[in-house]
Amino acid sequence: PGKGAFAGKHIVITAGPTREAIDPVRYLSNHSSGKMGYALATQALRAGAQVTLVTGPTQLTPPKGAKLVAVESAEEMLAAVEEAVSADDIFIACAAVADYRLARVAEQKIKKQDGATQLELVRTPDILSTIAHRAKPPVCVGFAAETQDVARYAADKLKRKKLTLIAANDVSDKSIGFNSDDNAMTLFWHDADGELQRRDLGRAPKAQIADAILTQLHEL
Ligand code: C5P
Repeated sequence: PGKGAFAGKHIVITAGPTREAIDPVRYLSNHSSGKMGYALATQALRAGAQVTLVTGPTQLTPPKGAKLVAVESAEEMLAAVEEAVSADDIFIACAAVADYRLARVAEQKIKKQDGATQLELVRTPDILSTIAHRAKPPVCVGFAAETQDVARYAADKLKRKKLTLIAANDVSDKSIGFNSDDNAMTLFWHDADGELQRRDLGRAPKAQIADAILTQLHEL
């Protein structure tokens, strides 16, 4: 979007993976690099927004000018977002939040034993859904990484999570998405008549994809 397109707006962005502790030395996580979320933060700042970047552990240098809130677990991320975002804001959930955490985190390092073992997992909160279902929700943007039926799952998520816009990509293609510098996304939203609309962004560097997402959001 243009330079001042988001002047006076506060945009809260989640980025990166979450880490769910198993014991003091181990965790469950995923391969998210945080690149897409950081690219969104950079482009939002260029468009004049005030940006809060709620980030899981990444190797990236945070964009200058963003307010950085570093978290580890899904529950910490939810708490940080709850505190940062209000009804007049825009919330972009780009983080790859772990779907499960340990039912109990061991206080001491778990010792190996002979034979198999099991970990009990319980669901983490859905941060995006929680925020979007507030009585006075901000404008919410989601991401959908799918390996099949991308359009159907994305359209379903758009509706179920009450989003203004969703950016979907096919993560079965290893050359894009997670950890890659490029991405290929399709945007879905509902027009004023409630009709599902889509726009294919094609393969491009994440900075360009981020810019296209924000341009579409600005139009909406
Ligand atoms: O349901 P699914 O995980 O595919 O939804 C993806 C979208 O929801 C992403 O925008 C992601 O950041 C967000 N999400 C979240 N909290 C979760 C799971 C997903 O904010 N626990």
